[in-house]
Amino acid sequence: MNIGVLTVNDFSFHPNMRLKQAAKGSGNEIILINPYDILCSLKDNGFEFFIEKMHNDLDVIMPRQGSPMGDYGLVLLRQFMHFGIPLINSLKGVTIARNQYITLQTLVSSALPVPSTLFITKLASFLPAVKQLGGFPVVVKQVDGMGGDGVIKVNSQTEAERFLNRFLKDRKGLLVQQFIPPQDRTDIRVLVIGGKIAGAMALAPDSQDFRTNIHQKGHARPIDLTRACASLAIKAAKACQLQIAGIDLIVEKGCAPLIIEVNYSPGFKGLEAATRKDIAKQMLDYIVNTRHVY
Ligand SMILES: Nc1ncnc2c1ncn2[C@@H]1O[C@H](COP(=O)(O)OP(=O)(O)O)[C@@H](O)[C@H]1O
Ligand SMILES: [Mg+2]
Repeated sequence: MNIGVLTVNDFSFHPNMRLKQAAKGSGNEIILINPYDILCSLKDNGFEFFIEKMHNDLDVIMPRQGSPMGDYGLVLLRQFMHFGIPLINSLKGVTIARNQYITLQTLVSSALPVPSTLFITKLASFLPAVKQLGGFPVVVKQVDGMGGDGVIKVNSQTEAERFLNRFLKDRKGLLVQQFIPPQDRTDIRVLVIGGKIAGAMALAPDSQDFRTNIHQKGHARPIDLTRACASLAIKAAKACQLQIAGIDLIVEKGCAPLIIEVNYSPGFKGLEAATRKDIAKQMLDYIVNTRHVY
C-alpha cells in the first residue's frame, strides 16, 4: 500500500521517521507530500493535480499538518477526495479538529463534558467573559494553536490588553476558559486508533509552567486509564469523526474528567517513550487493515 503523508516535515521528524520504520519490510511505503509542492487545477472537464514529484498511485492520504493547516489544506484534501483517494483522518474530522472551538462545540453537541469556555472576537468581550467564568485567572487559547504555543494564562485586564489585541488581530477569535491550577489536576493524553485505546500517559508541567505539553517540557508517565477516561476518549474521537485522534483530558481533583482538546494529527514521540509501545506500528496496521471509504 502506498500511504501518502501530508506534512511540511521530512523523515527526520519523529512521526514520519517512525511510520517509515514501521512500514519497512511490510510491503507498504510511506510517501511524504509537502502540501506546498502541490498545484491543484480545475478545468471545465474536471480536476487536475500536479505534485512536484508525481505520485499517481496513492492508496490513502494521512493529513498530518496539525491545526495551522489553514483553508489551503482543506482545498487539497477535497482535491484528493475528488480523485477517490481515501483520507485518514477524514475531511470532516480534520475540519472539526483544526479549530479548538469547533471541536468543543462538536463535543458538547454529543453531550460530552468540556470546561466552560467562551469565544471572543474583540477585547471588549474579554472582561464579561472573565466575569462569567468567575474571575481571574483565565486561560486564553488561539483556535489553531499547537503544542501549547497558543495557550496563555491571563491574570488581569492589564495583562489582557498587553497580549490579546495581538492575538485578536487575525480575526480568528479566541477561547477563554477557567484556569485550573496544575496542583489541582492531572492532564492525560490518550491516543485513539480505530475506536480503540492505543496508548495513554499522564502529563505534569515543568516547574515554571502550567502547560503540560511535551513541547513545553512537560513530563510524561504511563498510566492505566480509568474506564471513565477510556470511554470518554473513544467517544470524543467518534464525535469528532476521527479514526486517529489524540485526546487531551483534564481531571480536576475529585471531579469527572473533561475533554480539553482533540488533535487530528497527534505526535507520539512522548507517548512511545512513556509507554514503550510501538504506536507507529499500531497506526500503520490500522491503515493497512481498514477498508477505506470516505
Ligand atoms: N483550562 C485550563 N486550565 C489550566 N491549564 C490548561 C487549561 N487548558 C489547557 N491547559 C494546559 O495547556 C495545555 C495546552 O492546551 P490545549 O488546549 O491542549 O492546546 P494545545 O493545542 O496547544 O495543546 C494543556 O495540555 C494543559 O496542560
Ligand atoms: Mg493539547
